Amino acid sequence: MEGEDRFEVLLTEAEIERRVREMGHEITRDYEGRDLVMVGVLKGACVFLSDLCRHVHLPVAIDFLGLSSYGDSTTTSGVVQITQDLTQSIVDRDVLVVEDIVDTGLTLHFLLENFRVRKPRSVRVCTLLHKPSNTVRDVPLDYVGFTIENRFVVGYGLDYEQRFRNLPYVGYVRTP
Ligand code: IMP
Ligand code: MG
Repeated sequence: MEGEDRFEVLLTEAEIERRVREMGHEITRDYEGRDLVMVGVLKGACVFLSDLCRHVHLPVAIDFLGLSSYGDSTTTSGVVQITQDLTQSIVDRDVLVVEDIVDTGLTLHFLLENFRVRKPRSVRVCTLLHKPSNTVRDVPLDYVGFTIENRFVVGYGLDYEQRFRNLPYVGYVRTP
């Protein structure tokens, strides 16, 4: 598509598809007989969640949470606001937070603290991507699709200035 030539492919559509299928099967095994609620963090996780949930062969519930960070877009302050809350109760239920990418871990740290007071039965985290080199807050990641280097990535839900979330692969910005 137009403008796509500025990106270099990091993870192909086929690689992502294979890994997402594996993760779905792992989640299926781990949550058999439980009351699983998959919670996607908007907007980045929507593509990953929609593919992932179709490989989870259990009667799961799906919900979304909108978050926004204060401060400018280049530095994560860790002060996060809920812009759209869950539509169902998670009391006594098994919550799986689905994220596109964990970078500093600040967003997820906030979210896990917020969820804890709502008394779910369990909370686990599933992220497609992890950039461990930027860790500020160590949060337990239960399912990780790919561990990547410290590069700005785009596609498969991740945006570049709010665009290109619809790329079927994950790419990084080519340096001229
Ligand atoms: P954290 O609080 O630093 O872990 O921030 C995680 C959030 O920052 C993700 O949910 C993304 O929305 C965004 N983010 C971090 N790295 C990237 C990237 O390389 N591309 C696009 N968005 C990113
Ligand atoms: Mg996000």
